[in-house]
Amino acid sequence: MTIGFTLNQEKVTVHTAPDTRLIDILRERFSLTCAKSGCLTGCCGACSVIFNDNVVKSCLIPGFRVQDSTIITLEGFAKTEAYQDIIKGFAEAGVVTCGYCDSGKILTMETILTKKPRPSARKDILAELRGIRCRCTEPESLVAAVLAIADIRQRRLYGRSA
Ligand code: FES
Ligand code: FES
Repeated sequence: MTIGFTLNQEKVTVHTAPDTRLIDILRERFSLTCAKSGCLTGCCGACSVIFNDNVVKSCLIPGFRVQDSTIITLEGFAKTEAYQDIIKGFAEAGVVTCGYCDSGKILTMETILTKKPRPSARKDILAELRGIRCRCTEPESLVAAVLAIADIRQRRLYGRSA
């Protein structure tokens, strides 16, 4: 089938089988490799993308569901100021990453802050990050990063802290 969708702000089409996983479409047909093929069972989050404004695991999305959707991969998100907030927040919180789970970690953090620009409850942040299996960074460090990013973003947008 031919599938049309918006990928990183561009209208694209691809001819593929209806059950081809979105992760494979992105990596093999569009050479977008930030989303990684990890567990392929929805457990690790390494394959995450923003799909119609929600973070989803692209290994669980069959091609036929991609029709008319809007998808942002980490490659697309990396061109935004919001991404720069996150990178600065990692530095401020002392988070060092190997890069493997960046799509899951970074895109999930962005949706946490989109829903709640000034998050305060650590347990709520931890719950949102539960879908990401990061082998390099302690969950508490990721929470510290989210709080630092929130502060950086508030300063950038409004000139004051979160
Ligand atoms: S590869 Fe998709 S969740 Fe692990
Ligand atoms: S930063 Fe290495 S697996 Fe998450």
